[in-house]
Amino acid sequence: MKKFLVAICAAALFFTAIPAQAENTGIEISDISAEKFNIQIEKFYATLPQAKGDYKSKVRPIAIEGAMNTETEILIRALEKPVAYRDLNYLFVAGTYKNYPVVIVRTEIGMANAAASTALAIKKFNPVAVINQGTAGGHDSALKIGDIIIGASSYDYTTFRSDYSAAGAGIDLTKQENIGTYAYDKASGKFQAYMKYFADPTLLKIAKETADANKNFKVVTGVIGSGNAWLECVDYINFLHEKYGSSCEEMETNSAAQICQNAGVPFIGIRVLSDNVTNDNKYVPETAKISQDFILLVVENYIRDVLKK
Ligand code: 5AD
Repeated sequence: MKKFLVAICAAALFFTAIPAQAENTGIEISDISAEKFNIQIEKFYATLPQAKGDYKSKVRPIAIEGAMNTETEILIRALEKPVAYRDLNYLFVAGTYKNYPVVIVRTEIGMANAAASTALAIKKFNPVAVINQGTAGGHDSALKIGDIIIGASSYDYTTFRSDYSAAGAGIDLTKQENIGTYAYDKASGKFQAYMKYFADPTLLKIAKETADANKNFKVVTGVIGSGNAWLECVDYINFLHEKYGSSCEEMETNSAAQICQNAGVPFIGIRVLSDNVTNDNKYVPETAKISQDFILLVVENYIRDVLKK
């Protein structure tokens, strides 16, 4: 009974807190709490055909990544003939979209998970391209919750060397030099530090064209900042925005880009703002729907204009 009352109160809070946001962003709000949602979705995945052997497709699939169930469910439900694969506890669902092979990768949260699941996806599915997408926090006060950022490039805002300061001198992390992340460079034949990774030009072009043709999405092209951190300190966010030009922060793109650089696989990161502490104090994870809806259009155009040509 007590549990039931708690659930009712939580639901009431959920519904009273969210509609104002829904009005602002046009987001459809799911009628279930996050926990209930995760249980339901696992049950749904258990009903999918489970892979018995290795993935076999004559045509290389497009891999689309999202860290969480809220960031992958719409994509997975959009697949025809979905088959679930699991490796090191990561979930991959392969099927077709618009009659083209597509695999959805649930990377789980954070840089190491994104790198590991991207490496596994490359080995298991040999994708022709990788698109990492999902939610992010704003680094630019001109951007609103629900806006989309096409990542022309990404960087890791946690890989830096600070200036020396003596004990007791205080902390000033604005005196820093980004030291990048290490990926394989084909030209020199060795791993080298990359301060940033650039989106594949063709994927970038298709994403921009998709934005131009679908004005119901508010889209900018910018820099995605990644790291195992969630920043709420506006001065430091403003510093990162000014020094590195980042439009947003999240926890996966740059490490997925790093692995794609190693493997020579075309990559792009595209994110929707679920929060932006520089101008708003809300977190609206339901914005993940906006990202997935946009990505499906990008993928459709990529298949039609690039892969099937
Ligand atoms: N900072 C860091 N990660 C964020 N995410 C959404 N907003 C933020 C933010 N402000 C994403 C990350 C991660 C999950 C916690 O949500 O990419 O997967």
